[in-house]
Amino acid sequence: MKKFIPVNIPSVNKKDIQSISSVLKKRWISSDGPEVKSFEKKFSKKINRKYSVAVSSGTAALEIAVKALGIKKNDEILIPNFTIISNALAVIRQNAKPILIDCDLRTWNIKIDDLKKKISKKTKAIIITHIYSFSNDMDPILKICKKYNVKVIEDAAEVIGLKYKNRMCGSFGDISTFSFYANKQITTGEGGMISTNKLELYNKCKSLRNLCFGKNQRFNHDDIGWNYRITNIQAALGISQLNRLEKTVKRKIYIGNYYYKKLSKNNNIYLTPPKITYSENIYWVVGILIKNKKVLASKIIKKLNNLGIGARPFFWPMHEQDVFKRKRIFSNKKYPNSSYLSRYGFYIPSFPDIKKTEMDYIISKLNLLL
Ligand SMILES: Cc1ncc(COP(=O)(O)O)c(C=O)c1O
Repeated sequence: MKKFIPVNIPSVNKKDIQSISSVLKKRWISSDGPEVKSFEKKFSKKINRKYSVAVSSGTAALEIAVKALGIKKNDEILIPNFTIISNALAVIRQNAKPILIDCDLRTWNIKIDDLKKKISKKTKAIIITHIYSFSNDMDPILKICKKYNVKVIEDAAEVIGLKYKNRMCGSFGDISTFSFYANKQITTGEGGMISTNKLELYNKCKSLRNLCFGKNQRFNHDDIGWNYRITNIQAALGISQLNRLEKTVKRKIYIGNYYYKKLSKNNNIYLTPPKITYSENIYWVVGILIKNKKVLASKIIKKLNNLGIGARPFFWPMHEQDVFKRKRIFSNKKYPNSSYLSRYGFYIPSFPDIKKTEMDYIISKLNLLL
């Protein structure tokens, strides 16, 4: 293979370009344009929520969601340990206390047994994040949360278009968040969404996104907010991308299943299968986990890069983040599954336009290396 195969190339088609150029021509470019509202409405309909608020990133969506739920200083919030740092940051920015849950080695989502150990009367909320492949097992998780009267934020950034049983991911709990970064199922370049069925939360999120401008006196602000607005240009792209979500998801499933069929025969690696009882796998990324700790993922990534193949390491767990160690955010407890995944997991190119010849090349090199 002569050309380098990157981990991701975003899908952009003629309709996306037309959609963006039409709002440019109309001069509707700021966040105040009609496409933002239309994107929010269409998105709500797609995931079956009453209200949605478009924002500038998935990280911004999480920060707003945590604040909108009224989380305060020293409140305990459960989060996955194996996840993006944005989950922890949203909690820390409200001076609340993140409590980590280890992950499950089969699904890479939170381990329910560990959730049961960590939840207590002090827990105010939980961020349930769907990681890489499958939905979390929402029924038992929500049952536990109900018992402890814990508020639920569902981080569905990686799973737009995935269902838990027959219900869309991102339609559970008090509030849910999404990302439209360039590697997601829908992209607006950068961007995110918050969705909820509660009118009060919706209004709070809208205000927090827009500097909490005063209701009676515009420049006398109601609260400490952010400018986390999305532009009308981004929303125009979002609408066009949303219109082909099912097609994109179908293509990603095809790619994931192709890799799974060819690579799962290799006993030195684990890939998440196409289905488990409660969730299909829409393969946001195709993750490879090295079994038996034979070799570190970082070594394989370097070798793949030298062969012209892009690859990225898995998330680095929250309890091992240098920045959090310096700030003594987490205690010295061990989270063996998160530590294992972060050292032995990586993901390979699986963008919608990847060619079969490129996948075959990647498969052959992986089988040689591992
Ligand atoms: C699970 C999860 N949540 C939140 C985010 C943050 O989204 P963004 O990059 O749009 O800020 C990401 C980023 O990829 C993510 O994977």
